[in-house]
Amino acid sequence: MIIIGCSRGKHIAGRIAKKLKKPYSEFKVKRFPDGEIYVRFMKNVKGKDVVLVQSFYGYVNDCVMEAIFAAETAKDLGAKSVTLVAPYFAYLRQDSRFNAGECISIKVVGNLFSKYFNKIIIIDPHLHRQGDLSNLFSIKTEKLTSNPHIAAYIKKNIKNPLIVGPDWESYKWAQRVAEKLNYPFVILNKKRLSGRRVKITINKKINIKNKNIVFVDDIVSTGHTILEAAKKLRKFGAKKFICIAVHGIFVENALEKLRKANIKVLTTNTIPTKVSKIDVSALVAESLKNRNQ
Ligand code: R5P
Repeated sequence: MIIIGCSRGKHIAGRIAKKLKKPYSEFKVKRFPDGEIYVRFMKNVKGKDVVLVQSFYGYVNDCVMEAIFAAETAKDLGAKSVTLVAPYFAYLRQDSRFNAGECISIKVVGNLFSKYFNKIIIIDPHLHRQGDLSNLFSIKTEKLTSNPHIAAYIKKNIKNPLIVGPDWESYKWAQRVAEKLNYPFVILNKKRLSGRRVKITINKKINIKNKNIVFVDDIVSTGHTILEAAKKLRKFGAKKFICIAVHGIFVENALEKLRKANIKVLTTNTIPTKVSKIDVSALVAESLKNRNQ
């Protein structure tokens, strides 16, 4: 096995390789002046089980192209198998035709990646209407969750937490983490009005006396979900907020806006940022190790 760090995966790929004591190499990517990319393997992959590590954030479409170029090249160079490890995998939120004529992006990426890889491993994929990765991909799939790492962080660092999921979809993280720790939790209601606007409602009494509010969710993108949820909870007297997310996409100065609203934010390192404090490389290493046995 050889672990290859693609341009948006090298922050975690090296750690995975080290934990597995397997060879590691970075995938070389250059951009031409016209925007096309050039890619190259720097180590021999012939006859090997190649594990490509790529997160999909920032210039998401470039990340997609790079992963596909890498997979096809690995096969062309004689790799025995090609697995994609996607600490954060994109295009999963558009999982339905919400308006006439829309592309159901989740289906397209599922079909596309199934053509190029033998297996895909994703950390905390945003799956709701589609249920399971096996409904999307026709290749082997594996879903990992960072919940045990998030739970361990809360247990070690936060006193008297009230775990809050900002919308019903967040129960997979907020409720599961709370249940694991046997801590109180509440799940709020959210209506998305647009890409940047959400409405949060709370229709029951919440006891937040002496509690540290800990939001737990899979994604923070614009930050509006968490900002709105905190605004509502302030009406119940909440003062201190911590937000723990798996994937910190943080577009449009989200981190800054959350800080200004006195919300301390931290995430796992599926996407590297200055607040990605919870290392989840062990999750992937464990999964790849088991495969090898
Ligand atoms: C949606 O269901 C996700 O779990 C997040 O709540 C959402 O993506 C957060 O987006 P934003 O930070 O832009 O409100």
